[in-house]
Amino acid sequence: MDFFETVNRRFSCRNYADRPVEKEKLLACLEAARRAPSSRNSQPCRYVVVNGGEPRTGLIKYTKIEGFNQFADQCGTFVVLYGGQAEHDPRTGKPPPRRAYWQTDIGIAAAYFTLAAAAQGLATCIIGYFEEKPLRELLGIPEDKQIWLILAVGYAKAEPKQPTPRKPLEELVRFLP
Ligand SMILES: Cc1cc2nc3c(=O)[nH]c(=O)nc-3n(C[C@H](O)[C@H](O)[C@H](O)COP(=O)(O)O)c2cc1C
Repeated sequence: MDFFETVNRRFSCRNYADRPVEKEKLLACLEAARRAPSSRNSQPCRYVVVNGGEPRTGLIKYTKIEGFNQFADQCGTFVVLYGGQAEHDPRTGKPPPRRAYWQTDIGIAAAYFTLAAAAQGLATCIIGYFEEKPLRELLGIPEDKQIWLILAVGYAKAEPKQPTPRKPLEELVRFLP
């Protein structure tokens, strides 16, 4: 699939079919995320694949909050992305930069993942709204790390007829001069 076709095909899916995700496809998405750039190549993003059982039930409970993410029960697979600021630069041993980039790095990894998923006919939804602390404890993620995003992964029951609207380019961009 052409890159721009893939970009246009990706959408936030909130209606999943009862069909499991093939492990090879999931691994290909994780491999794409692993290839994502990161500040100083620090690669802060870690992944927990949640496919069922108590971890999935708990994840759904901590994600379906305040009326959000009601679709979560339909989804069989979730990928939890977590990370944190490294104490020292892994290459130089120097203190980290004044601006923290780890959240940005995780966001880029999520973008790579979701595009790789779309290229393989999978549907995803990036979930940023959830109860972080109990979920971190449930999944055995260390206290000094933070869950930043969850990706719901599956097959869409139906693809949207129209792409989600966007602001026009003229509103977003200035060319100089
Ligand atoms: C950082 C981030 C957090 C998001 N959190 C949620 C969420 O908690 N629940 C949800 O249903 N969608 C969530 N979304 C999906 C956005 O609502 C969606 O990307 C946006 O409306 C554009 O629609 P599209 O992805 O279909 O193009 C999130 C997206 C991003 C990038």
